[in-house]
Amino acid sequence: MSDIKKAAQIIQDGGLVAFPTETVYGLGADALNPYAVAAIFEAKNRPTFDPLIVHVADLRQAEILVHAIPKKALQLIEKFWPGPLTLVLPKSSLVPDIVTSSLPTVAIRVPNHPIALELIRESGRPIAAPSANPFGQVSPTTADHVRQSLGNKVNMILDGGPCQVGVESTIISFAEKEPVLLRPGGLSLEEMEAVIGKIIISKGMGDKPMAPGQLEQHYSPRTPLRLILSSDPLVATAKTGWLGLQNPPSGFDFVEVLSPKGDLKEAAANLFAAMRRLDEKNLDLILAHPVPEQGLGRAINDRLSRASHFKT
Ligand code: TXA
Ligand code: MG
Repeated sequence: MSDIKKAAQIIQDGGLVAFPTETVYGLGADALNPYAVAAIFEAKNRPTFDPLIVHVADLRQAEILVHAIPKKALQLIEKFWPGPLTLVLPKSSLVPDIVTSSLPTVAIRVPNHPIALELIRESGRPIAAPSANPFGQVSPTTADHVRQSLGNKVNMILDGGPCQVGVESTIISFAEKEPVLLRPGGLSLEEMEAVIGKIIISKGMGDKPMAPGQLEQHYSPRTPLRLILSSDPLVATAKTGWLGLQNPPSGFDFVEVLSPKGDLKEAAANLFAAMRRLDEKNLDLILAHPVPEQGLGRAINDRLSRASHFKT
C-alpha cells in the first residue's frame, strides 16, 4: 500500500496524520468525526476556543460545508484556490461544533500541494488541520520539525520536503457584509485587493480572538525575541542572534539572513526554519529586524511581532 493510501486509511479510522501543504505542515483528522478532531486539540495542547481550518480538495467539497458563498468570496476562490487562502464562511450543519469552537462560521481552504490533495481525495473526507506544532510554538515547515515536537503523538507523518510558501495561509472572513483580513499570510493583500477591491484589516481581538493565531503571543521560539526599532542601538553580545531580510550588522556571531537579494517570498519560505536554527543555539536573545510592510512582508512582520517576548 502506498504511504498516502495508508494515511488515508488512518484518517478514515479517526487517527491523526501530519501532512505537507504549500504553507506549513498540518496535523490532520477527519473533520466530520468529532472524536478524531478532539485528538488534534489534545496532541497540540490547543485550547478548544481556537477553531480549526478545514482542508478540502475543491470548491464542490467546500460547498457541502457552508451555507452560501458570497460573490467576492467566489472571485477569490476562482483566482487563488488551490492556494494559501482560507475563507471564513457561514457553516452548514454538517460541520461539528468542535471544529469551529461553536462559531456559526467555518474556515476552509484548498491547499496547493499534491500530497495534501491526494490525501483528501483518497480519504474522501474534508480534513481539519491546524499547523502541526504544539500550541503557541513555531509552525513546522519540514517533516523533521513535526517529528521533533509531535512525533510520538501522530499516527503517521507524510514527508513532502520543505514547504514552498513557509508562512500560514491568509485568512479572510466573510462572516460580515464586507470582507475582513483576520490573518496576513502566504497570499498578499495586494493580490487579493486587485481582484475584489478594498479589504478591511482586523484590529486586535482583545481577549476574545476571532483567529487566535491573533493571540498576542504566538509562533514563539523559546529564546526571547525582540523586535528592533529603528532607534534602538544595536549591541551584540556573545549570545545574541540577529534575524532579518538582508545586510546583517557586523558584530553578531549568530545571524540568519532571510533573503540575501531582499525577496520577501524567499524570506517567508525561510522564516520559521531560521527562527528554529537560532532557537537551537541557546542564545540569550534574538534581535529581529522587521521587513518592508508590503506583499508577504506583512505576514513576516506579523509573525515576528507575535514571536516577540517584549511588548511595546
Ligand atoms: O496555512 C495554514 O493555514 C495552515 C495549514 C496547515 O493549512 N493551518 C493553520 O492552522 O495555520 P492554525 O490552526 O494554526 O490556524 C488557523 C487559524 C486560527 O488562528 C483560528 O483561530 C482561525 O484559523 N480560524 C479557524 N476557524 C475560524 C473561524 N470560524 N473564524 C475565525 N477564525 C477561524
Ligand atoms: Mg498554528
